[in-house]
Amino acid sequence: MILAILLQMRGIDVVVLERGTRVDVLSRIRAGIMEPGIVQFLRDSGIETRIDQLGRPRNGSRIVWQDRPDVVIDVKRWTGAEMMAYGQTYLTEDLYAQADRLGTQLFDDVTELAVTGLQGNRPQVAFKTPDRAVEITCDYVIGCDGGRGHCLGLIPEAARQVHERIYPFGWLGIMVEAPPLDDVTYIHHSEGFALAAQRGPNLSRYYVQTPLDQGVEQWPDVRFWQTFLTRAPKDVADAVVTGPSIEKALTPLRSRVVEPLRWGRLFLAGDAAHLVPPTGAKGLNLAINDVRLLSQALIAHFEEGDDGLLERYSTDALARVWAASDLSWRLTRLLHVFPGEPSFDDRLRQFDYDRLLESEDRQRALALDYAGING
Ligand code: PHB
Repeated sequence: MILAILLQMRGIDVVVLERGTRVDVLSRIRAGIMEPGIVQFLRDSGIETRIDQLGRPRNGSRIVWQDRPDVVIDVKRWTGAEMMAYGQTYLTEDLYAQADRLGTQLFDDVTELAVTGLQGNRPQVAFKTPDRAVEITCDYVIGCDGGRGHCLGLIPEAARQVHERIYPFGWLGIMVEAPPLDDVTYIHHSEGFALAAQRGPNLSRYYVQTPLDQGVEQWPDVRFWQTFLTRAPKDVADAVVTGPSIEKALTPLRSRVVEPLRWGRLFLAGDAAHLVPPTGAKGLNLAINDVRLLSQALIAHFEEGDDGLLERYSTDALARVWAASDLSWRLTRLLHVFPGEPSFDDRLRQFDYDRLLESEDRQRALALDYAGING
């Protein structure tokens, strides 16, 4: 949607296809932490959001650890910039509103998608909506259709590599109508990870690490809160305002990077191109960075006939993707308990945390990675 709006503002024709309905899309709950550079890009680029009204600027986040002092991921101190707590769902609402104002062509509830001609100059896209069948001829197809979307499969296996790590646990997340903690708080405990996050002055998001063989129905609120409050140190547990969940979902954790991000006239962006575990909240930031690069590249193509940036898109986007994949993997390994892991791994984890506690250089490096700077 961001890419569509950016192109449309330059008079480049765009058609957006969405498998779900608008109601489906707006009910998807994702992480809500944005990097300073991404927030600035949205402000500068003409994307109209309510970030400065509804977002909560944050100095950074906190790690709390059973029987050890806290570490503050102090983005403000080390970079001078602030992170922004702004739920992805709010951003999606903003984008629909702007696309509606611009009259962007948007097809919802799309089925039977067929894309052909990607190695030629005029790809064809055919699909159905509940009331009609449509065929489009276009210049480029941008696959922004998520980790289980159609577009990755359009690239022959011989023409791509998929690098992947599947984690042996998931996150169970709940939404609660209650004031959140002041800081996004990552919790490590010998029984597993937990996280307290924010959505608004009276809306909180909490997660606990869970085994993959248990569904949401095995996690009534009482069990969720018992688990969360056991993992949280006393001062955190005392500060949390519990309440009934208004939403509950299980997310499996996965890292994935596809290389390259281009096949002929197809470009992949966002989750279609790469997945990160939610630890570090990089998914939305990476997706926006991809379309930032793609919008510049497509504008250079259409306005100046210059394909240099399009040629470089995959390499440029992947540099940032690998940096974020590294951060997400390191934070995931540091903060979670891996079922059946040797005690060696846990000792290394404790050692790693102690080194972080002792070294301002390491805290600074973590803050820069967390803020998406130098990536
Ligand atoms: C969230 O706001 O849901 C959130 C925040 C930080 C994370 C992951 C998720 O690392």
